[in-house]
Amino acid sequence: MSVAARAAPPDPHAALRADVLAGLAHRPQRLPSKYFYDARGSALFEAITRQPEYYLTRVERALLARHAGDIAAGVGPRARVVEYGSGSGLKTECLLGALPEPVAYTPVEISAAALDACVARLRLRFPRLPMLPLCADFTAPLALPHPATAAARTLAFFPGSTLGNFEDAEAVALLRAMAATVGEDGLALVGIDLVKDPAAIEAAYNDAAGVTAAFTLNLLARINRELGADFDLDGFAHRARYVAARERIQTHLVSRRAQAVRVAGRRFAFSAGQAILVEYSHKYRDARFAALAAAAGLEVAGAWGGEADGFGLRLLRRRRAAD
Ligand code: AVJ
Repeated sequence: MSVAARAAPPDPHAALRADVLAGLAHRPQRLPSKYFYDARGSALFEAITRQPEYYLTRVERALLARHAGDIAAGVGPRARVVEYGSGSGLKTECLLGALPEPVAYTPVEISAAALDACVARLRLRFPRLPMLPLCADFTAPLALPHPATAAARTLAFFPGSTLGNFEDAEAVALLRAMAATVGEDGLALVGIDLVKDPAAIEAAYNDAAGVTAAFTLNLLARINRELGADFDLDGFAHRARYVAARERIQTHLVSRRAQAVRVAGRRFAFSAGQAILVEYSHKYRDARFAALAAAAGLEVAGAWGGEADGFGLRLLRRRRAAD
């Protein structure tokens, strides 16, 4: 019998277990927001985008619809589109529909279910466009599939203000990696939520129907299922607050009472009110976003949507040396 045949099968939950155990041992406690997106979490996020308070998706889609021609002119013909975190691919329809002769579409998505749904949907709309999906965590280096037709350039599409989930240093690292992925002549189209009335921002993360709370709590359900933990979902509450001094939403899961939880064979004690940080959603001003881009070697080459819209699309290119 070969060594490989006797080896234990690879553990599909190894990364989740390591990150959860490290995050619960850390003070203050934290869990990575990327683990929200299992099949149920992705479906709940789609439901969030339909809540009246969650303006981000609606405004971004309207901006794409209104400015698609302009954006397409900035990108040019025969682009390969690489989307970071495809979600359902709804916004992508608008972009792909406007681009002249795109050569391939590569959605990069951590949730296999969301990736399949996105490709299935876009295949119907664009039957002749090669779809080369990649199921991967886009914060790790990407091995992109190669299109059969050479692309004139690669466009990274990063909508939804997902950039806002990253702290500044991580956001810069991600933009830098994106710049390397698209290459010298590549571009990135990034959606950013803008600083605005704190009440409007806070409402978007505290919808009246409670969908965002269910989305946040689903993280504990996933940990229970995949790591054999025993979190009592009624024992924790969703809390999302806008911290104006940091221009971001900070979302926590707060223990409603003193309790103990077992996770992957370990015991964690929680006091009443003890909070686990699960997500940041940063809001941007143009100067701050331009500074992040510059730190990643990029510059803003096009901008659609501003203060009046509350959301922005920004086209980034490799930073030219000033002369
Ligand atoms: C998917 C990152 C755009 O931060 O606004 C929505 C995720 N979290 N409601 C965001 C989310 C709570 C969302 N993004």
